[in-house]
Amino acid sequence: MCGIIAIISQNQPVSERIISGLKRLEYRGYDSSGVATITPEGTIDVRRAVGKIASLQALVEQLPLTGKIGIGHTRWATHGAAVEDNAHPHSNGRVAVVHNGIIENFAELRRELEQKDHVFSSQTDTESIVHLITDFLDQGMRPEQAMKETLAHLEGAFGIAVLFQGEELIIGARKGSPLAVGLGDTEMYLGSDALGLAPFTDQMVYLEEGDWVILRDNSYQIFNAQSEPVERAKTLIAANNMSLAKDGFAHFMLKEIFEQPSVVGQTLSNCLDPHSRLPDFSGLNLPRIEPFQRLNIIACGTSYLAAMVAKYWLESLTDIHVNVDIASEFRYRRTPFVNGGVAVFISQSGETADTLAAMTHAKENGQFCIAVVNVATSSMARLADAVILTDAGAEIGVASTKAFTCQLVVLAAFTVFIALQHGSVTLEQGQQFVEELTHIPSQIQDQLHHKEELQQLAQAYLVHARDILYIGRGAHYPIALEGALKLKELSYIHAEGFPAGELKHGPIALIDQDVPVIVLAPFGPLFDKTISNAFEVAARGAKVILVTDKQGKSAVERMGQQQFTLFEVSTAGTFSSPLLCAIPMQLMAYYTALLKGTDVDQPRNLAKSVTVE
Ligand code: F6R
Repeated sequence: MCGIIAIISQNQPVSERIISGLKRLEYRGYDSSGVATITPEGTIDVRRAVGKIASLQALVEQLPLTGKIGIGHTRWATHGAAVEDNAHPHSNGRVAVVHNGIIENFAELRRELEQKDHVFSSQTDTESIVHLITDFLDQGMRPEQAMKETLAHLEGAFGIAVLFQGEELIIGARKGSPLAVGLGDTEMYLGSDALGLAPFTDQMVYLEEGDWVILRDNSYQIFNAQSEPVERAKTLIAANNMSLAKDGFAHFMLKEIFEQPSVVGQTLSNCLDPHSRLPDFSGLNLPRIEPFQRLNIIACGTSYLAAMVAKYWLESLTDIHVNVDIASEFRYRRTPFVNGGVAVFISQSGETADTLAAMTHAKENGQFCIAVVNVATSSMARLADAVILTDAGAEIGVASTKAFTCQLVVLAAFTVFIALQHGSVTLEQGQQFVEELTHIPSQIQDQLHHKEELQQLAQAYLVHARDILYIGRGAHYPIALEGALKLKELSYIHAEGFPAGELKHGPIALIDQDVPVIVLAPFGPLFDKTISNAFEVAARGAKVILVTDKQGKSAVERMGQQQFTLFEVSTAGTFSSPLLCAIPMQLMAYYTALLKGTDVDQPRNLAKSVTVE
């Protein structure tokens, strides 16, 4: 979603570098951008443009900004359309503000400020911050005091950076939206995402909830929510995790799909004890989850689908009762909590507003919170009682791919860990499961060798379809949902996933010869039932793409069935089967989008890190 970069320098103009930092945040999704600097005369100079950052860059080349103190922003529209007037920074000449998040009481603030003759020029919630600060400055306050008062009046979530006319400082603040201070030798930085600041410095200080900070060109001072001066720890960020190169791939998404053998392997090896080679999470001091205890797993989007797969796994190998919830529902639903219960939160970014709020809600209700996240320094990682890191590296493509399969391998290892702890599987069975998991990276590689076949399927069956259905049973049902989600978000073709057994209860009414149905049916206990569903849709004219394995393929061939188009996945096992089926789902969606000419890495209306609810 929106991104912030701010720089205060002793000796260099900053606009060019702010724009280059914003470019590194493009992956988050945005529809306009802007930059403001303080001129040598102390006035505020703003440039804003709708569309890609290239338009802003062209504008700044035409009308250069010379200031050494500046703030920049990529906006993903929430309040008001993506037009220049609504783009950030918002400025009235006295102050300029960039803002991520949503000010919930903006209408009330705006009404009060308009009554005091403040003139608004946008439809945004952000502009109320500009006028509120100005109102306090008008009362004779210094910027620091005006900021403190303003923060006390803002409700909602925000990461903000503010410039003040005639002042050599930047003030930043965070509440529910991340913000980090970057430390340089002769300059200071502020960023909503360490990725944007990575070219400038590897030393970061992450602001905590409610913190605000004053940056000067060679110093910074952080205050907590009560405006008391505080020290926050410095973090060295790993530069190798910050690469933004496509490495010869046409898109970040394709690169990330192809990285899966290595990152899934690395993530798995992080979960295993180096000597016993069994899953080991004992270093995290997790409370023991007893049989028949309830475990909540909470997430959004693709991460939620990983949680759904985990429910099938955990309930098949242990006696734990798993409740899986969408974060935006969980956070507002009344649900009984057992004191000392355990809740797992899954998130690639570790910043998703609903998942973060759901974690806060669970903590307030006495739950031990485990974060499965891909960003070690994220808000969720810092809030959780224990963190399990996926080691997928930076995921830039908006559609999650490698983070999802890394989440799955962590959840598979976690399942085996609990099952061994409970004695619900024997040591030998545990070892066999680990053996199955260790083959997954090379099996993913095998899938990737079939990319042309998937491209042909996309061309033949998917790209011209108006609606596409995905069906599966058991742990393949969430993968059917994931296939449909990937396809719709990338290609804008309407796609839905269903449990295959639900077809007859409604969705089968959608079937005709124009609706391709992707059936996930690797060989196993539910194979025959899923194949019956495939026959049912084929009998109504649907084109069936059957995703199955070698055994499933032979079984279908023995039936003398020739209506289905088959795609073979490498193997069938408790853990490997759903995980491996996710790979053709990703590639089919990728190639369909490519053929349709949509923006694969930054699909319309979507943002990488959903930091507003
Ligand atoms: C879909 C996708 C989203 C995210 C969701 C949660 O391809 O990427 O559905 O999975 O927005 O994001 P995280 O995992 O960062 O909490």
